[in-house]
Amino acid sequence: MTTLAIIGGTGLSRMEGLSIDRREMIKTPFGAPSCPILFGEFGGVSVAFLARHGSKHQIPPHQINYCANLWALNSVGINRIIAVGAVGGIADDCSTGSVVVPDQIIDYTHGRENSFYDGTHGLEGVTVRAIDFTEPYDASLRQALIDGGQASGETVVSSGTYGVSSGPRLETAAEVRRMERDGCTVVGMTGMPEAALAREVGIAYACCAVVVTKAAGKDGPVDTNALPASVEGGMKNARNILELAIAKL
Ligand code: HPA
Repeated sequence: MTTLAIIGGTGLSRMEGLSIDRREMIKTPFGAPSCPILFGEFGGVSVAFLARHGSKHQIPPHQINYCANLWALNSVGINRIIAVGAVGGIADDCSTGSVVVPDQIIDYTHGRENSFYDGTHGLEGVTVRAIDFTEPYDASLRQALIDGGQASGETVVSSGTYGVSSGPRLETAAEVRRMERDGCTVVGMTGMPEAALAREVGIAYACCAVVVTKAAGKDGPVDTNALPASVEGGMKNARNILELAIAKL
């Protein structure tokens, strides 16, 4: 049975190198997930794959049904997730093209459905519960990503704090300065509530954060025209890392 899933973000709605055996659209009490879950093999390992923004990259970060996505993955027996996401680099060492394996999160999002324990749905008959989230990411999945990154020769930053903004617009320079003062090393739009929902259903979760720009104000304005090329380059690096990381799991 497939127990490992990859969630692909911007630039990774299709997983090159994944041989697809079957696809399954799951119904959930929270509505439809972003797309069908694909089951197949990547680098010789059995994996499931879900495109967070939909198979045509049509769902913006603030409209993703994170609850449905995590519910669907849990319901098909997934117990480990590697989540890939594009981010902006705040810290100096988080340069474009590098991959960060964050160990902490600060959640700046608002207005998102962010818990299965919403007083209505719940899990296993419990509708209100606070989970421990001191360490939001799974240590052994993180280590596999770090090892995979080192073996791949790509530039990997082995820890950091992922500041999650609501989007879909990029940040102001002052917002990035505040995040930097808070200790954020990268900023992206999809890290939460995904990580917390994974914890709620007991799925081990780690993030492969691909730096596709410097964050707003770090190098002047963000050059959005350059984004498609840097996303493509960054995701190629991420695929190399994933292949080696997964082989170690
Ligand atoms: N901010 C938020 N999300 C992002 C960025 C950014 O600078 N770059 C890529 N995703």
